[in-house]
Order: sequence, then structure tokens, then C-alpha cells
Amino acid sequence: MSDSLTPTPHKRRPRYSGKNPRRFEDKYKEHNPERYAETVEKVIASGKTPAGTHRPIMVVEILDVLAPKSGEIAVDCTLGYGGHAQEILSRITPGGKLLGLDADPIELPKTESRLRALGFGAEIFTAHRSNFAGLQKILADNEIAGADLILADLGVSSMQIDNPARGFSIKFDGPLDMRMNPQRGQPASAFLEKINSNALAKLLVEYADEPHADKIAPEIAGKNFATTKSLANAIRTALPRLNKEDCALSVRRVFQTLRIAVNDEFSALDSFLRNLPACLNPGGRVAILTFHSGEDRRVKKAFAGGHQNGIYSEISHEVIRPTAEEQNSNPRSTSAKLRWARRASE
Ligand SMILES: C[S@@+](CC[C@H](N)C(=O)[O-])C[C@H]1O[C@@H](n2cnc3c(N)ncnc32)[C@H](O)[C@@H]1O
Repeated sequence: MSDSLTPTPHKRRPRYSGKNPRRFEDKYKEHNPERYAETVEKVIASGKTPAGTHRPIMVVEILDVLAPKSGEIAVDCTLGYGGHAQEILSRITPGGKLLGLDADPIELPKTESRLRALGFGAEIFTAHRSNFAGLQKILADNEIAGADLILADLGVSSMQIDNPARGFSIKFDGPLDMRMNPQRGQPASAFLEKINSNALAKLLVEYADEPHADKIAPEIAGKNFATTKSLANAIRTALPRLNKEDCALSVRRVFQTLRIAVNDEFSALDSFLRNLPACLNPGGRVAILTFHSGEDRRVKKAFAGGHQNGIYSEISHEVIRPTAEEQNSNPRSTSAKLRWARRASE
């Protein structure tokens, strides 16, 4: 700890080859949005996401659906950077409480500190390092009978995607890891090394509708790829006749498949959807943002089933999409689909 008499040692600004830092870890201004608000605004205005942050998607639509009110109990199952949570928190005060869950032990403490610094104390906000598949237990452990509103914004955050060290990035080289919780399970490199070609081809179709699964799988299954770039290059080599754009789409889909598999995302989502009615108070609302068809199909089916058997009194029959304006200003919102449901009153 430094005291006021000890001068802070001067740190030279790192030298970059161009005008601006290009590496994620060197973008020191973007990593300090409170201190360098002007730089952060410029990055956002250019349609990008500042390094180390996440821009919440469909905030207006989600608030409209969840309609948070003072005194209510809320759960953000995918806390991420806390963008949605911050908006909900300011609407459930006074008297309300928000539980923020996230599987990621690296980003969760940072978000907890950020929300504390905004004035949300432990009486209104608590952070839980947990998979949302275990939501029912988290509520029970905290002596909460049910939530009035629940949000799940699926997938990965921009902090995770953009940090090459986490191994999700297609753009920058890093270890082929892709775990939301790097303390559990196996990295994508180990998963790929163990799986056989037929099983991988099946997953590529099932998890990402990959049309070239039969060509890609034999080239990458059972092999050792230590880095994201080495895997991306092998996928491109497997598709010599494909144009650059289609090839880039296949690379994305393979990465999506590995991410879903390594994090067991569909099992977590299925458990969550199954337990959801028991976690909601009568009249409680749930909103789920999905980013690909495998997720949306599951949410749609669970809500339709719950509506049919009377557990949900109302559901969104049509999917809600981000406005054209949001899609333009934040390309990461483009594939988002929002669905909601309301638990029947008893
Ligand atoms: C798209 S981000 C959420 C962004 C957040 N809504 C915001 O405004 O910053 C998704 C987050 O959910 C977390 N996550 C994904 N699947 C999870 C699961 N099964 N259980 C808990 N957290 C999960 C990821 O670690 C990531 O931080």
C-alpha cells in the first residue's frame, strides 16, 4: 500500500509502432473507462467495444420486458461487465436486491468492484461465482424463495472474447483455451486432441450448422493445436476452394462449437430452463438473450411448453431483435434474439 508521502514511481508510456496501441493489453486508456472517458467514447462511436469492457445489448427492450420496480428481487444470471445489472439495480432501489451470477472467476471480482464503486452496497447487490445451472441452490443458500425478475444474456462477454489470453479470439493469437472458468474442465486444445473425426463432425453440425463439417473435422480432430491462430490456419487449409468470407464464417463456427463443448453450454442452459419456473415468484418475469440458433431453439421450446401447461401465463410469441440503429452502432448485437416469459400467478 502506498502512503501520501511516498511518490508514485513514474511509468513511461509503452512505445507502439503506430499512433495507437494495437494489442489488447496495451490499450491502457480503454481499460480505464472512468479515467479516459473521451477515448472510450471515440472507440464506441467508431462501432467498436473498448478493450476490457462490454456494451450491454437491447437494454431498453430488456427493461421494458422485465419492468423492474423498487423493492423487487432480481437475478442477473450472466453478470459480465454489469451493464444490464447496473440499470436494473438503479430501478429496484430502495428495498430491492440483485444477485449477480457469473461462471468467470477472472472478470467477476472486477465487476463486483465496479458496481460497488457506483454505490451498490452488499445490502442491494451480491456477486456469486456460479454456473446459472445452479440458480435454485444459490437462491436457497441466500434464503430467497423466488425472484421477481431474471435475466440471462447468454454466451461470452467482450472482455472474454477480446482478451487473447482467454483463447476465444480469432483475431489475435493466444492459447487455445476458451473456458469461461479456467479453473475447471479442460481447455479447447485438450478437447480437440481427444475427440475423433466423426464425433467432431457431428458436433460441428449440431452446435453451429457448419456446412463443411466433413472436410474440416478430419483435419483438426485428434490433433494438437496450442494456439487460436494455428487452429484457424488449419481450418482455412482444410477449405482450399472456399472464398475468404465463407472461410472466415467456417472458422467462426468451429470456434463456436468448441466454446459450447468446452463450457458444456447446452447442458447448463437446459438445466436452467428446467429449473426456471421454480426460481420465479408468481407473476415473475424472465428475459433471455440468445446469439445462435442452438440457444434460441431451446429457449423457444421451454417457454412454449411452459405456456401450454400453464406455468407461464404469457410468453413472447415473436422473437425481439435489436433495432437497426443498435446493430449499426454495436455490430456485436447483430445476432441477438430476445425472448421473455411471465410466471403464472397462483
Ligand atoms: C454476454 S456476457 C453478459 C454481459 C452482461 N449482460 C453485461 O451487461 O455486461 C455473458 C456472461 O455470462 C457468463 N456465462 C455464460 N454462461 C454462463 C453460465 N452457464 N453460468 C454462469 N455464467 C455464465 C460469461 O462468463 C459472461 O461473463
